[in-house]
Amino acid sequence: MAEDLYISGGTKEERYEALLPQLQGLLSGETDEVANLANVAAALKETFGFFWVGFYRVSGEELVLGPFQGPVACTRIRKGRGVCGTAWQEARTLVVPDVDAFPGHIACSSLSRSEIVVPLTGGAGEVWGVLDIDSSELNTFDEVDVRFLQEVCRLLRHNADK
Ligand code: SME
Repeated sequence: MAEDLYISGGTKEERYEALLPQLQGLLSGETDEVANLANVAAALKETFGFFWVGFYRVSGEELVLGPFQGPVACTRIRKGRGVCGTAWQEARTLVVPDVDAFPGHIACSSLSRSEIVVPLTGGAGEVWGVLDIDSSELNTFDEVDVRFLQEVCRLLRHNADK
């Protein structure tokens, strides 16, 4: 598959719909986890221009920074801490319209204003990492992002044979 994305304008939903099959193609045939996480972070950043897009992976009782696109970020987050650690602990997607209103939010950048974190789960439902996206504007993420980003995370499970 060519390593180019083809996403024209349209609504956010249309852009996700155009992106998903291309991501599927990009991930198929590659089983290396870091390579796939890196390409998904790049594709989401390129398509939507989010401020920060990246992955943290579970290592013991911490999340450790993985492939990402955007400014440098915190490298380790303990279970139950911040938005990422909470999404991991509760094994559910968290949408934060205003990070200043989320108790315990970890500010890797003062420019981040809203955030979504989607757990990466394996076949037995165990969380092996999270997808974290930050926006420099308030109220960026809604049900459309939840639906499609959960689909993206499912693609990663399938491909990583988790
Ligand atoms: N804000 C996150 C930390 C990770 S950075 O946003 C990249 C949190 O509260 O878990």
